[in-house]
Amino acid sequence: MLLGPPGAGKGTQSKLLQEHLRIPQISTGDMLRRVIEQGTALGKKAKEFMDRGDLVPDELIIDIVEQRLAGDDCKRGFLLDGFPRTAEQVRALDGMLGKMNVKIDAAVALLVPRAELIRRLSGRRTCRNCGTMYHVTSNPPEKRGVCDHCGGELYQRVDDKEETIGARFDVYEEQSASLRPLYRERGLLREIDGTKGTQQVFDRILREVRQAA
Ligand code: AP5
Repeated sequence: MLLGPPGAGKGTQSKLLQEHLRIPQISTGDMLRRVIEQGTALGKKAKEFMDRGDLVPDELIIDIVEQRLAGDDCKRGFLLDGFPRTAEQVRALDGMLGKMNVKIDAAVALLVPRAELIRRLSGRRTCRNCGTMYHVTSNPPEKRGVCDHCGGELYQRVDDKEETIGARFDVYEEQSASLRPLYRERGLLREIDGTKGTQQVFDRILREVRQAA
């Protein structure tokens, strides 16, 4: 499980871990963005919350995760990216894991100061087609607005606009920051300096996960 505020690098690291460990990344943010693109009723409801930086209601997200974890590809393990984020989601996850008879190996928290998070989020660009992430100054694509990997169009997430970033930090502090002490009490927390380069952070996470598993 990867924990951390918006922009800490959860998505970047879980994509790398997914490839390396060959287990699926369960990103609730990505799953929600997909249903929004599809224009489903669930997507329309979720969009209202996401666009203003609020969390989507627990009952919606818990159902989505439960269905996803039932997939055959989760039988060998999985990476949770962006879930759980509230005490209610922790309770629901405990129930799901109990039924599946599996345990979380580690809750990896990425630590990054607020100023760096703002820098990362306000400059992030994402490929509409393959989801690869860039940063306008620290990790730009070769051709502006175009994905190096698939040629897809790069876009700025609606919730990465400056006015919404602040709201997301407030929501994180109010509803999700308390998960760190909770998983510390359970002996699962691994805290990692998320300000290092992507590869260094990745190596460190891998070490922690290997020790824990
Ligand atoms: P979600 O998509 O999960 O967003 P988030 O948690 O706010 O996290 P981000 O995706 O913004 O950041 P990240 O930590 O993944 O960082 P990233 O790797 O992208 O959720 C979006 C919304 O969906 C929520 O606000 C909520 O409304 C809803 N939602 C989702 N899950 C929910 C749940 N469980 N319950 C209720 N609602 C839910 O990196 C950011 C940038 O930094 C990129 O540009 C990247 O290239 C760069 N970067 C990454 N690592 C480094 C590094 N080491 N050095 C320099 N730059 C780096």
